Amino acid sequence: MLILSSTVVVILPSLVSSSDLTIKINSSLAISRKNLSHSTLSPSPLHQEVKMSKQVQARRLEGIDKNPWVEFVKLANENEAVNLGQGFPDFAPPEFSTEAFKQAVSGDFMLNQYTRGFGYPPLVKILAQFFGKLLEQDLDPLKNVLVTVGAYGALFYSFQALVDEGDEVILIEPYFDCYEPMTKMAGGCPVFVPLRPPPAHDGRLMSSGDWQLDPAELASKFTPRTKAIVINSPNNPLGKVYSRAELELIANLCKKHDVLCFSDEVYQWLVYDEEKHISIASLPGMWERTLTIGSAGKTFSVTGWKVGWVLGPDYLLKHLRTVHQNCLYHCPTQLQEAVSSSFERELRFFGQPESYFVQLHKDIQKKRDHMVNSLLTIGMTPVVPQGTYFLIADISTFKKKMPHLPGSEGEAYDSRFIKWMIKNKGLAAIPVSVFYSSQQKQHLDHYIRFCFIKNDSTFKAMDDKLQQWKKELEA
Ligand SMILES: Cc1ncc(COP(=O)(O)O)c(C=O)c1O
Ligand SMILES: *[C@@H]1O[C@H](CO)[C@@H](O)[C@H](O)[C@H]1NC(C)=O
Ligand SMILES: *[C@@H]1O[C@H](CO)[C@@H](O)[C@H](O)[C@H]1NC(C)=O
Ligand SMILES: *[C@@H]1O[C@H](CO)[C@@H](O)[C@H](O)[C@H]1NC(C)=O
Repeated sequence: MLILSSTVVVILPSLVSSSDLTIKINSSLAISRKNLSHSTLSPSPLHQEVKMSKQVQARRLEGIDKNPWVEFVKLANENEAVNLGQGFPDFAPPEFSTEAFKQAVSGDFMLNQYTRGFGYPPLVKILAQFFGKLLEQDLDPLKNVLVTVGAYGALFYSFQALVDEGDEVILIEPYFDCYEPMTKMAGGCPVFVPLRPPPAHDGRLMSSGDWQLDPAELASKFTPRTKAIVINSPNNPLGKVYSRAELELIANLCKKHDVLCFSDEVYQWLVYDEEKHISIASLPGMWERTLTIGSAGKTFSVTGWKVGWVLGPDYLLKHLRTVHQNCLYHCPTQLQEAVSSSFERELRFFGQPESYFVQLHKDIQKKRDHMVNSLLTIGMTPVVPQGTYFLIADISTFKKKMPHLPGSEGEAYDSRFIKWMIKNKGLAAIPVSVFYSSQQKQHLDHYIRFCFIKNDSTFKAMDDKLQQWKKELEA
């Protein structure tokens, strides 16, 4: 983190009378539930600005102010497009989870109060038990588990606690977009290395597994300044599930160069076909240098709960606890209770047909296959994902046919294409270039990401739009 020697003075705005304020706030809140669930809120009508002689924002925020999601989500809602962009399920979560939450709200009144700052005791206990079993480690619930506000919180703490000014952090492209600003906010320097698609693929559909790291290129990114590498398996947006050999390659480099590993495993239950998710922390010599990050939102289809966790050795986690105790200090107690009950239930049914994790990936795999086939009908070429609930589709054929779509200067083709598709075809997706560094964006502007954890009526709406599109193509 940058330390700036400036004095912070807080001045409350006194430019509006409190009655004005009330009316404006009421009117900006007069919105339907539909707007509330997505970020279509119009900007606040209050516009006071103080002209400061000093720079207003902290320098660590420079260059990270753009967020790719806001714009596309807003456009999708304005055009009432079928939302296949944002990654959240639009069907009910498992009843055992929502029941557990109702219980937590209506039961023991003490669950309305603060709990242990580093995690509600029953939750850290069951997480230690559950993941101890998977990682083949004896986890201490009080030392090896920290509960956070979503996996986002766990990631933020990892960067803030362990990445110092000037440290290099290796990010594998395409990457979940927040890794880059989080590295920079901590004062670190992102170093990028791409997963590359194979040069030719003889008509066969490509799998996300075909996108690979070049071992020599990866090795060349490790320097004496490298502090950490971030891996995300299964990977958002590609859906790649790293093989044991790929994880060993990374692990060996981490050990050789004394580098930490931040392992984002939020989609670990969503792997398809014969794929197996492997935690890099389970490889020899890796537990001691890895932070393993998970999300209840992704695990139990409850993204709005924002309960996450990070597992790791105490000598690393103690620094994340320092960030946490000086930042949020507590996460909501009732949600932690509901997540702990959900995990207790899953532990009872571990690996059995009743297990939600077992059922979910079967259901979602069918949706994956459905979407792959639907997209093929209009001439998009999906890369079949091994995991997650996303897939990327190649739009090169459209780029050839209509290379000049409207957009702002320097705007990548995929981004222009999405805006065109939302407005003209009523379908929303996310441009894959947002998952690349600015140096690489231009080269990877012909893929778009779709989310397939969507209900049957959303799929029906998608198929209707695609059939209409197909007719137009044939006309
Ligand atoms: C790879 C990855 N990591 C982390 C997160 C954030 O998870 P949470 O909602 O638990 O903060 C997401 C959410 O989309 C994600 O895709
Ligand atoms: C705004 O909200 C306050 C508090 O809920 C309420 O008392 C007031 O009547 C509301 N005003 C308008 C204009 O809706
Ligand atoms: C909320 O949504 C409704 C209908 O979808 C729309 O008419 C209204 O303008 C929206 N309000 C805001 C503040 O975006
Ligand atoms: C399906 O999703 C849409 C929005 O994505 C939602 O309006 C609808 O209620 C959902 N239907 C079911 C049956 O869950």
